[in-house]
Amino acid sequence: MKITSVILAAGQGTRMKSDLPKVLHPVCGKPMVWHALQAAKVISDEIPVMVIGHGADRVREEIGSAARFVVQAERLGTGHAVQQAESTLKGDTDLVLVSAADMPLLSGETLSKLVETQKANNGPMTMLTIVADDPRGFGRVVRGEDGGVRAIVEEAVASEEEKAIKELNVGAYCFDANWLWDALARIPLSAKGEYYLTDTVGLAVDAGMHVSAVTLEDEIEAIGVNTRIHLSEAEAGMRSRLNRAHQLKGVTIVDPASTYIGVDVEIGSDTVIQPNTHLRGETKIGAGCEIGPNSIITDCQIGDRCIILSSVLEKATLEDDVDMGPFARLRKGAYLSKGVHMGNFGEVKDSVLHEGVKMGHFSYIGNADIGANTNIGAGTITCNYDGEKKHPTKIGEDVFIGSDTMLVAPLELGDRARTGAGSVVTKNVKEDTLVVGMPARAIRNFKR
Ligand code: UD1
Ligand code: MG
Repeated sequence: MKITSVILAAGQGTRMKSDLPKVLHPVCGKPMVWHALQAAKVISDEIPVMVIGHGADRVREEIGSAARFVVQAERLGTGHAVQQAESTLKGDTDLVLVSAADMPLLSGETLSKLVETQKANNGPMTMLTIVADDPRGFGRVVRGEDGGVRAIVEEAVASEEEKAIKELNVGAYCFDANWLWDALARIPLSAKGEYYLTDTVGLAVDAGMHVSAVTLEDEIEAIGVNTRIHLSEAEAGMRSRLNRAHQLKGVTIVDPASTYIGVDVEIGSDTVIQPNTHLRGETKIGAGCEIGPNSIITDCQIGDRCIILSSVLEKATLEDDVDMGPFARLRKGAYLSKGVHMGNFGEVKDSVLHEGVKMGHFSYIGNADIGANTNIGAGTITCNYDGEKKHPTKIGEDVFIGSDTMLVAPLELGDRARTGAGSVVTKNVKEDTLVVGMPARAIRNFKR
């Protein structure tokens, strides 16, 4: 049986008071509409049809080929929105799953339940409901004496009695496709001048057909985003969902409320995440690490048993057993090999620190290759930029860079070279040689 998802994303999102289309506001690092697409992927391999309107170009650009787009030029209601998908899908699918792009927590599992229930239903549709004390403006679900769904009543037109109903319409449905296209054309125009998708329930019931309902157990899934207050609620809900998933896989999260993990982040078991830590983008962390407190890690690959205390890392790679911080900074292209130690106030960019390099205090290393077991003294700086171009620095193995050395690139230092404190090194240094002064001059050769 062919199932296709239709995602409604044309609404304006006026209450967000934003230049950004509502469905592009991020939740845990990805736009809301991306979350809706993820859920849709669970129920079908068919590429979803997305109804866009407000901010259509930006939504299209963001989503690319992950959806087939149809444009709802005039926002005439949810029923009218689904109708825009008819020309694309008529005759091409058996079931249509309709959901809204502003419900980022609605899970694929829940959508699957809707589909399975509809498959077993001899009526034309199955809807998703939730029982909750706070009605938050949702349509009320009216049931008949037999317990079957009779109608959805929008809050604006509900009587006091109907308003007291605690079962609410979440806004996701699975329809028999052939019945749906026909029903959409018969939806009456509401007093507000819109065609309500919710009126399909009444059409089915009037024709003596059964409307099934799946009731959500987890209230969090029903969070719809209309304001930035809801946005932060959705963020908190998604954050907690992601954190729990990591905890169940063996990651210790000391304080989930202050731990922010993006949807694509992977973490190995027995890693401990301390409070106030942000793991973002395509970050992968190995097993047995201790991360944080107070660290921000974006798009990094981190090996096993690394310790990262109060540091900021971006697009960097750490092999196993690296320890760094507090207050270290890695930028794009920093590569720290096994067992590197980096202490406080160091910055590394576009550089490789080979195994066992130590860089304890206050240094800037840019465009450099630092050989194994070399010691970078406090205050060392690679002067890699001449105002126009970046130049490389290559330092051999077992080198000792004295405190406050300025390495004026392009520059090479051979294995076991040494620099005296405060040297300004402007010329290449041969292996086994000690240089001192400003500009640094050779004063001794260690070679036996
Ligand atoms: C809708 C339901 C309500 C349900 C609630 C759950 C109707 C008439 N009412 O109300 O019963 O409790 O969702 O959140 O359906 N959209 C379009 N084009 C339009 C209008 C809306 O694409 O012309 C999209 C919006 O972008 C949004 C979704 O449809 O993603 C829902 O629209 P919205 O206006 O938020 O409906 P509600 O009033 O919340
Ligand atoms: Mg809404």
